[in-house]
Amino acid sequence: MRTSVFLGLALLVMVAGMPSPAQSQGLHCQAVSVETCAMAGKLGRGINLGNMLDPPREGDWGYWLLPEYLDKVAPLFTTVRIPVRWSNHAAPTEDAALDERFAGRVDKVIDSYLAKGLYVILDLHHYNQLFGDALMPNEYPVAAEVLETRLVNIWQQLAERYKDRSDKLIFELLNEPHGKLNGEPWNALLARILKTVRSSNPTRTVLLGPTEWNAAKALDKLRLPDDRHLLIAIHNYEPFNFTHQGIQYLPKPFPTGTKCCNKQQQQMITDALDLAQAWSKQHGYPLHIGEFGAYKAANMDARASYIRFVRDEIERRGMGWTYWDFASSFGIFDTKTGIWIDPLRRALLD
Ligand code: BGC
Repeated sequence: MRTSVFLGLALLVMVAGMPSPAQSQGLHCQAVSVETCAMAGKLGRGINLGNMLDPPREGDWGYWLLPEYLDKVAPLFTTVRIPVRWSNHAAPTEDAALDERFAGRVDKVIDSYLAKGLYVILDLHHYNQLFGDALMPNEYPVAAEVLETRLVNIWQQLAERYKDRSDKLIFELLNEPHGKLNGEPWNALLARILKTVRSSNPTRTVLLGPTEWNAAKALDKLRLPDDRHLLIAIHNYEPFNFTHQGIQYLPKPFPTGTKCCNKQQQQMITDALDLAQAWSKQHGYPLHIGEFGAYKAANMDARASYIRFVRDEIERRGMGWTYWDFASSFGIFDTKTGIWIDPLRRALLD
């Protein structure tokens, strides 16, 4: 009897001393709950359903989120990130009452992916005026004094709306804060949003990232409220003149023809990941790489090499990722033919 109690105790001590699966993958979790840490370790491989629900109006950029994509995406990925331009589907007034028809549409999308067992990141994307950016065609302006409160009120409604959904639904407060939100303004605003979200969703995982477009180098400016259910998002588009070559909407478009990835380019990618990981180790919040990707104007072999390299480097550090994106201009799926762009799909997943 005594021996078995002793053996049991010894086993318990051994198990307690063993790293959890997430820790053994290299995640740093001392500031978050066991559940949040475990989730960070399970997000794995994911994809952004980009340019579908985040243009000013669905379809404005030539892509629609069709129900048949579910059976393409679900077998290959564990996580899906759904960028949504809520700011343009809510009243322009302070209360920001959600457009019920559009919100009902988003409900169906979220529920269809949750029903397949995927983690779903609901990402509030492109509130341009908040950053001081120019409005896009079909995007309506709001009074400057209601800009921030609208965002808080949008989240109040979303949090209430989705509070009973599965824990696999993750709220991402704001994609790529930048411009006017750089530094302290974002810290103050994220604390307001988080407080609102927590009144209806005390333990749901919330994803948020630093300013300067979720850059690793801005992590040291991030001030986080005391909250044990946070994951931190980083985007990595290094080397930018490769990943964004040929994009005409940039103020100074990069020429095409740049390949990837020589030693110096590899270093740019890994330096950003290492910087993020050092921050994570120091502060104890696990990381998720919410976006990386290469625009279609780059050479196909170079895109594939880039994708494989970045994926391997992220995974080597034990982090999950969501590639940008599924089917638009950085995409790995061709909406016209309804088939995967095979060299890219293989680079990402094989
Ligand atoms: C933006 C996209 C853009 C991508 C790469 C995303 O966050 O929403 O419009 O194509 O980043 O720059």
